[in-house]
Amino acid sequence: MKKKIAVMSTIAILASGFFSAVSAQDPPTPEQQAEAAVDTRKSVFKLLRFNLIPLVGMAQGAPFDAALAERNGRRIAALAPMIPDVMAHNTRGFDVETTALDKIWDNQSDFASKAQALVDNATAFADAAATGDRGATLGTFRALGGSCGNCHDDYRVDDD
Ligand code: HEC
Repeated sequence: MKKKIAVMSTIAILASGFFSAVSAQDPPTPEQQAEAAVDTRKSVFKLLRFNLIPLVGMAQGAPFDAALAERNGRRIAALAPMIPDVMAHNTRGFDVETTALDKIWDNQSDFASKAQALVDNATAFADAAATGDRGATLGTFRALGGSCGNCHDDYRVDDD
């Protein structure tokens, strides 16, 4: 019982510290907001890469795992619609560490359609993986991987 009270009061102290820290802070400057936006979008891209890497491995001859292929394909299809959302914050003109090209914000509908292509190709990949057919699944991999490169070619410094 004593322990429970101690835990509860610790939570209360932490919570009050959290709220006062938030309310005591000045609103973030435009520079801080731009930096946070870059952080967030890089996180989405890192998660995309994290999920793509095992699929690249399978395409290059690692043992085929249909369940993992389907799971990661669906994860990529779920993450990709966030790309236009996290890029909506226009960071052009801010001193931020980014490889995003300025023209993204002049071509938002084309940019969004390239994100949609990734959704579609990741879904096709996952659907093929759901059949358990290695050949059919890997046959859709090039389109999936290509949708990353297609957008990078147009909208990112240093193609990869
Ligand atoms: C619709 C456009 C688009 C698509 C599709 C896209 N990317 Fe990107 N990606 C970008 C842009 C723009 C950046 C630059 C972000 C920045 O530096 O602010 C980027 C950056 C990255 C980065 C570097 C992140 C960092 O920490 O600097 C990785 C890794 C990445 N993308 C992986 C992928 C993978 C893997 C896919 C496909 C599964 C993919 N991207 C699909 C536009 C796209």
